[in-house]
Amino acid sequence: MNPRLDRLQPYPFERLRRLFADLQQPADREPIALSIGEPRHALPGFVEPVLRDAIQGYNHYPTTRGEPALRETIAAWLQRRFQLDGVDANRQVLPVSGTREALFAIAQAVVAEKPGARVLMPNPFYQIYEGAALLAGAEPAFYDLAAENGYLPDFSAVDAATWDAVQLVYICNPGNPAGACMSESAMQELIGLADRHDFVIAADECYSEIYHPDAEPPAGLLGAAARMGRTGFERCIVFHSLSKRSNLPGLRSGFVAGDAALLDRFALYRTYHGCTLPPPTQAVSRAAWADEAHVADNRALYAEKFAAVVPILQEVLDVEPPAAGFYLWPRVPDGDDEAFARRLYAEAGVTVLAGRYLSRSDPETGHNPGAGHVRMALVAEPAACIEAAHRIAALYQETIF
Ligand SMILES: Cc1ncc(COP(=O)(O)O)c(C=O)c1O
Repeated sequence: MNPRLDRLQPYPFERLRRLFADLQQPADREPIALSIGEPRHALPGFVEPVLRDAIQGYNHYPTTRGEPALRETIAAWLQRRFQLDGVDANRQVLPVSGTREALFAIAQAVVAEKPGARVLMPNPFYQIYEGAALLAGAEPAFYDLAAENGYLPDFSAVDAATWDAVQLVYICNPGNPAGACMSESAMQELIGLADRHDFVIAADECYSEIYHPDAEPPAGLLGAAARMGRTGFERCIVFHSLSKRSNLPGLRSGFVAGDAALLDRFALYRTYHGCTLPPPTQAVSRAAWADEAHVADNRALYAEKFAAVVPILQEVLDVEPPAAGFYLWPRVPDGDDEAFARRLYAEAGVTVLAGRYLSRSDPETGHNPGAGHVRMALVAEPAACIEAAHRIAALYQETIF
């Protein structure tokens, strides 16, 4: 077997299952899970009729690059959303079966294996980045997302030896778990570093459409590149998904866009990898990228939940609504995220994710930037999210008073 598989760490939810193995949830209350980031708002209304009309498509093999009509719809969406003058639907867009597999696959296509090769990624992070780096034969290197920096990257803290060895840098923007958003100028600085140190930037923007309805939409890497006069998006690729934007995590549909030369090589890799979008999935995807009304409804529902839940939690926790995304990332009262998660599970019937499971400890200092936080996903119905917040507040008010 491939010995690199031994380096893959258990997924956060597996660690959470072990954390709760000796506990029972209260028998007299409905359990509420705020742990998994699976959108649970209703499917957009167009999904069923579009799928029905497209059903004959199962009769055909899909192509790796997807149907031109889907790529054109995506290119038009990108142009509108990020104020881009032009996106070449044939060369700068590639539909993918969800961003998870594409974020993994990009490292396999980009990394040239050699001793000391590095892939730089945020910490806390989406664990796929780490596995992708390891299986591509590179060592993961991390940049911490710390409260002192507003949970944003501080690339000035990355040392020269790391920059010399880096081939690929992942950014997650808006971030999971903290929801912080990089500015366009911060992304332009990173593009400058990419030129200087010769690396590719993979921007995971799968939460970019979940923001407060009254706020400016989060900036994106392609917009940052275009505003530098870089219309070929050299060294830049973005990852977008219908999972969060359109409540379609089961559809497995997203896209990759950016530097045409990179995408050309990536498409070659994917021909062998074999991940294509079934034609009916492409039809639903096209309808979803062409419609904004359901996305606005989705944003409004998340905003409603944050407005209701955050003030209740603020009675007992240091917590703020995120700039974007659907997670809360509070600090826990006594600093022990595992103990806090256990207590909520056993005494309140509420499941949250211990922050340390989303990050890696510094091997020298032992510091883990996720420790002391928990992640709460406000994906359930408003009533369940509010009920969970009341249970947490009640539990900790008992302790405080
Ligand atoms: C940061 C981040 N990136 C990517 C994904 C993958 O999304 P999908 O594969 O559904 O597009 C997730 C899913 O939870 C995520 O949190």
